[in-house]
Amino acid sequence: MKKLILIPFIVLLLCTSFAYSQKAEGLAQTPPMGWNSWNTFATNISEELVIGVVDSMVTMGLRDVGYNYIVIDDGWMMRERDAAGNLVADPEKFPHGIKYLADYVHSKGMKFGIYNCAGTHTCGGYPGGRGHEYQDALLYASWGVDFLKYDWCSHGNLTSDAAYTTMRDALHETGRPILFSICEWGDTEPWLWAEDIGHMWRISGDIYPCFDCEDRHDDGLPTQWSAWGVMRILNMRSNDTLRRHAHPGAWNDFDMMEVGNGMSLAEDRTHFALWSMLASPLMLGNDVRKTSKQTLEILKNKEIIAVNQDKLGIQAFRYMKDGALEVWAKPLHDGSWALCFMNTGSSPYNLNFHWNKQTIRDTEFNKEISFAKSIYKVRDLYAKKDIGTTKGILSATIASHDVLMVTLKPKK
Ligand code: GLA
Repeated sequence: MKKLILIPFIVLLLCTSFAYSQKAEGLAQTPPMGWNSWNTFATNISEELVIGVVDSMVTMGLRDVGYNYIVIDDGWMMRERDAAGNLVADPEKFPHGIKYLADYVHSKGMKFGIYNCAGTHTCGGYPGGRGHEYQDALLYASWGVDFLKYDWCSHGNLTSDAAYTTMRDALHETGRPILFSICEWGDTEPWLWAEDIGHMWRISGDIYPCFDCEDRHDDGLPTQWSAWGVMRILNMRSNDTLRRHAHPGAWNDFDMMEVGNGMSLAEDRTHFALWSMLASPLMLGNDVRKTSKQTLEILKNKEIIAVNQDKLGIQAFRYMKDGALEVWAKPLHDGSWALCFMNTGSSPYNLNFHWNKQTIRDTEFNKEISFAKSIYKVRDLYAKKDIGTTKGILSATIASHDVLMVTLKPKK
C-alpha cells in the first residue's frame, strides 16, 4: 500500500527533474566571441601558449572589443582517464592544471572554455565523454569552465540529439552556467533539433584558410578531417532553411575564423564581413600573439562587430547574385540594415547599384526596405566613412575577393 502511495510522488519527481533539464539560460544572447586554439595549433597547446594569447588579447585590445571566451580545443588531456575515471590534463602541457589556467583567464575578466567529444574518443584520439557525461561535467564545473565545445568523432551508434541532450543535462546538473557549443559538423542538421540543447552548432566540416578551395588534403591533413574553404561553407549551408533557426541564444556556427592565417587581406576582410553578417560566433583562430597591424584592424572593426552583435540576432541572407557579385542583407534592431557587396571573381568588379530600383525583402523575418519610398544614409564600414545616401547610385570598384560592407540608416 505504502508503495502505491509513493508512485505518484516518484512520477512527479521524475517529471520535475525532466522539465528543469535545459541549457543554461541567458547565455549567448549575441553570437559568442573569443579565441580557440585549434585552427593554428591543433593539439600543440600548452599553458604557456594560452597565457601568452590571453595577455596579447588584453594588450591588443581584442578583449575590450568583445572577444572574451578563451577556448582550448583538442589535445589538453592525457591519453587515458585515471583510476577513478576522471579526465586528466596533460601535466607537461599544463603543469599547473586546468583550474589554474581558468583562474588566470578569469582574473583578466574573460571566460574559459574547454573541448571534448560525445563519442568514445575525441577526433585527436583522446578520451571522449561517452558514458562519463555527469562525471566530466562536474569536473569542468569544479575547474571554472564557462564554455564546452563538444565534438562528434567516434560516436558509433549514438543518436546526435540524444547524445547532446545527455551532456546538456549533465552540464545543467552542475548548477554552473556553461555555454554549450555543439560540433557535429551539420551531419544530422542540428539547426532542426539543437535549439533547446546548445547555444551554437557547427554547420560544416572544418574550415581551412582558403577562400574558394573545395577540399584539401595535400598538406598532410589526416583524410578523416574534411577541410572547407570560406566560400564552400558559405554556399553549402547558408540557405534560407537554415537561417530561420538562428536567434539570440542559438546560433549557426560557421566555424572558428581563419583571419590572419594566410589568405589575402581582401579575403580576410570578406571572411570577417561574412561571418559578421551571418551572425556566426566570432572565434579567432590565429596566433593572436603575432597578429599583424592589418589583421588587427580587421578583427577590431567595431562597426562590423556591432553588425554581428546586433541584438535582433537575424542571420543575413543572399539578396542578389549577379555574375561575380553577391549582395548579402541583414536587418538590424533599430530599423537599419547591413549590406555586404562581395566580388567572388578574379578581377575587379565595377559596381553601379541603382538604389531606387531595389526593394529588399526578408520574407522569413518579415522585414522590408524600399529605396523608392525612403532615403537611407550609407556608411562604408571598412573605410569608416559616410558615403552619401540611397538617393542615386552606389558606384565603387570592388577588388577581387573583396567586399564593400555598408550600413543603411534611415535619414531623419
Ligand atoms: C574536429 C572539429 C574541429 C576540432 C578537431 C579537434 O575536427 O570539427 O573543430 O575541434 O575536431 O580534434
